[in-house]
Amino acid sequence: MLEKKLLTLLENIIDPTCQKDILSAGLIKKLILEKGVAHYILEIQPQHKEIASSLETQIKTKLIQHSDIQSVKGITTLQSKPKTQTKEKITLPSVKKIIAVASGKGGVGKSTVAVNIACTLAEKGFKVGIIDLDIYGPSLHLLLGIDAKPALKNNKIVPIEKYGMHCISMGFMMDKDIPVIWRGPMVQSAVKQLFQDVLWPDLDFLIADLPPGTGDVQLTLAQSIPLTGAIIVTTPQDLALADAMKGLEMFKKMNVPILGLVENMSHFECPHCHESLDIFGKTSYLRSQVNVMGKIPLEIGINQSQKAGTPAVLQNSHIKNIFDTICTPLV
Ligand SMILES: Nc1ncnc2c1ncn2[C@@H]1O[C@H](COP(=O)(O)OP(=O)(O)O)[C@@H](O)[C@H]1O
Ligand SMILES: [Mg+2]
Repeated sequence: MLEKKLLTLLENIIDPTCQKDILSAGLIKKLILEKGVAHYILEIQPQHKEIASSLETQIKTKLIQHSDIQSVKGITTLQSKPKTQTKEKITLPSVKKIIAVASGKGGVGKSTVAVNIACTLAEKGFKVGIIDLDIYGPSLHLLLGIDAKPALKNNKIVPIEKYGMHCISMGFMMDKDIPVIWRGPMVQSAVKQLFQDVLWPDLDFLIADLPPGTGDVQLTLAQSIPLTGAIIVTTPQDLALADAMKGLEMFKKMNVPILGLVENMSHFECPHCHESLDIFGKTSYLRSQVNVMGKIPLEIGINQSQKAGTPAVLQNSHIKNIFDTICTPLV
């Protein structure tokens, strides 16, 4: 309590670099009283070290006036402000719209949807990039049948071009058989590098395929990348939907606009009688809260085209029509 009172003695001392008092400016890191001796720690940015001695004198003069204080001992440290890296937005002036494709769960078809959206936009004549941010299980190289390693130019990574899209994935750089353990700060810098250290050409769209869930990749992306919005992919099962909602809420909280929901494996069309079956039920409760951009059936051709390394929209006119609808509000 007494120390709090002592602090008020310092509240009229002004930090000349910002014109705030030294308490609000955060320069006093500690003030304690021990057997009549006041100990304080004053922290100053290295570039302002010339203000130290004047502040030290003022602090001592103020403190010594208090009847409980016989002497004052102080330490002045020169400390750089920690860089608030995570909050710094990366600017990508050559890219017009960056769209994240996210999901609560893995295996719901996020990468399939991301690749087919990107390919549909490229087919319409837009300049499109696609970035696989699923650093835990990249799949873009498989989905597009890419076996090459990207080249370097002026210390930047040159995206690989396939089907008219500019593609980047950690999968192009990693050894496929060696598992990688990613920790928080590594994830942050990997995600930023995939955006920053790439020689992106002028792009109308950059589609980002995310890992499932609401982890470090999503957080870094929402904090550091100027996202146009996020598309949430889900299957209609209750559990997948519940997880999709979590992802959706996370983006909302981080002020990333939700562009809508893509329901994948939404139904099955019988190839014989053409009856449509809602195998997993309907997604009524989510539908009321989010705009559904499109529903993609469970279709063997989608899986086959993935195995062939070709986006389904290039092979199947039915799927192409569905993705045309999904992409309409994006352009
Ligand atoms: N609508 C669909 N019909 C049939 N198979 C699909 C469909 N969507 C995705 N798949 C298959 O499901 C598997 C998982 O899809 P993927 O896009 O890799 O999911 P995620 O990126 O969410 O983990 C892949 O083998 C893919 O070919
Ligand atoms: Mg994936």
